[in-house]
Amino acid sequence: MSRIVYVNGDYLPEKDGKISIFDRGFLFADGVYEVTAVVKGRLVDYQPHMDRLERSLGELRMAWPCSKAELRAMHEDIIRRNALDEGMVYMQVTRGTADREFKFPQDVPPNLIAFTQSKKLIDNPDATTGVKVITVPDIRWTRRDIKSVMLLAPVLGKQAAYEAGAFEAWMIEDGAVTEGTSSNAYIVKDGCVITRPLSNRILAGITRQSLFRLAKDSNVRIEERTFTATEAYEADEAFLTSASNFVLPIIEIDGKRIGGGQPGPVARRLRQLFIDAAEAAAD
Ligand code: PDD
Repeated sequence: MSRIVYVNGDYLPEKDGKISIFDRGFLFADGVYEVTAVVKGRLVDYQPHMDRLERSLGELRMAWPCSKAELRAMHEDIIRRNALDEGMVYMQVTRGTADREFKFPQDVPPNLIAFTQSKKLIDNPDATTGVKVITVPDIRWTRRDIKSVMLLAPVLGKQAAYEAGAFEAWMIEDGAVTEGTSSNAYIVKDGCVITRPLSNRILAGITRQSLFRLAKDSNVRIEERTFTATEAYEADEAFLTSASNFVLPIIEIDGKRIGGGQPGPVARRLRQLFIDAAEAAAD
């Protein structure tokens, strides 16, 4: 099915969705984005995603592309126009179109584009089997708290994972795991979930934020601290979170089996809690 995409106020067949070669996102990766999950045609955790967008825009001194109400209406419109039941809405704002000069252009409106992606988020076969992860050095810049479209390091990391027969790469810095190339990273030891605290070294995942709330309500302990790859190899369980995967169990890291090579009970429980909450919010 050919999608309907959004480009600066227009809804177009995807083959007609075009942006100038002078777009600063294209030339400088001078842009930010959000990926919001859709379940039963409804947005999951929309407001926290837009709060993070506001922060990303603010940190880069980039203007809002439209009003917040218009952005919400656009998200809902693009879901409806594509009859999207389950998947994601991708949206991107760049500093606009201008001749190539590094400094900010003056009086140039931002470019806003969006499209949908259909994906089985709930009946995801990866969640039943669990996935494999490798580790790679974290070669990104140090403002990973900004959700910028500068994603070359994640692209290289994900390709390395793919070539190793794995689903995701966990990035290592100063001996500790920072996060996945497009997900947050967790291990479980003696029933306690361990994940890195927020800082400019990782993205503040919205799924992570929801998971913290759900875990608290269900008396699952979470400890925010750094952990090493060696610690991960010896963990009872491991999992990752993202808007496009919810909670996804990990069964192998760098070829070492985790928790007997099966999705662990804590990860499975947290995944179910997340799905229940997403479905309930969509009713
Ligand atoms: N990635 N860390 C990184 C580096 C990410 O790119 C993402 C999301 C996350 C998880 O954040 P959230 O729970 O808000 O999705 C953590 C999106 C899904 C992507 O780039 O496709």
